[in-house]
Amino acid sequence: MTSFILGKVDFDEVRLAADVAALRDLEKGKEAYDEFTSGFWKNVPLWNESGDARDGMFKDVDSPAKPTEHTAAVPYLTEVIGETFAVEHLTMVRGRDIVDASMMPHKDFLELDGKATDQFRVLMVLEDNEATFNSDEEKVFRMRKGEVWFLDAAGVHCAANFSADSRVSLCLDFSFDKPFVPADVFASSDRYIPGLEPLLIKRKPLPDGFAVDMRRIAAACTRHNFRDIAFGLAKLHFTYDVPAADCYEWLVEIAECTDDAAIVAKAERAKDFYVVDRAMHERFSFTAW
Ligand SMILES: [Fe+2]
Repeated sequence: MTSFILGKVDFDEVRLAADVAALRDLEKGKEAYDEFTSGFWKNVPLWNESGDARDGMFKDVDSPAKPTEHTAAVPYLTEVIGETFAVEHLTMVRGRDIVDASMMPHKDFLELDGKATDQFRVLMVLEDNEATFNSDEEKVFRMRKGEVWFLDAAGVHCAANFSADSRVSLCLDFSFDKPFVPADVFASSDRYIPGLEPLLIKRKPLPDGFAVDMRRIAAACTRHNFRDIAFGLAKLHFTYDVPAADCYEWLVEIAECTDDAAIVAKAERAKDFYVVDRAMHERFSFTAW
């Protein structure tokens, strides 16, 4: 099942604006998943397993999430979430703000003991930003304000905001211990409105000779800029019609054209970590050699 729109929320614009401003003002805590992102990427835990606002780690838990102290700053969103969603299945809610930011394409849930199919990730965008895009294994799309999306986080996915304007959203995680359907994330089944038309981004075919030309980047590739090259390659699928995960093949090819075995090892390790296999609490660094 790839990403699709589950439904739509019509916001009270005045109350929403106050909560979006409050989310923007909340302090950026220690980021649990730094190696996945570049640029300004703030996750504010609003509900989680412990109720501790400093705990940003995603876990596979059965019990419903507890509100953190940050929910006091967003009373309207707290109401919207309670009215819209089946909160008894919520395991985490994060308020998210991204500015001039991108991420490495990756699969989530690789590190969990349980099945990724028990997890259901929902994104709800709180403001429009024409330079912010998401992708999954099939498409690039732009989420619009009020849309409630299922994000196929078990497959390779990615996101970027190519502007200096912030884009605030909510990331809601649901977990089920028995078979479920997408409508089950809502408080009532009439909130589930499948079939809404997504805003898909048309991409260009990859230029002829790209694979050969791209290897020339190796001439400028050093340990100091390897991270920049990786994040740069990761952005290409937003323009060209190629799978997001292809950036790892290119990264390995470029690395193999350098004379540095550590760069080759780093490229291969990156691919494994982001899209193949990852242990709980395992970290990766593009900058430690
Ligand atoms: Fe993710």
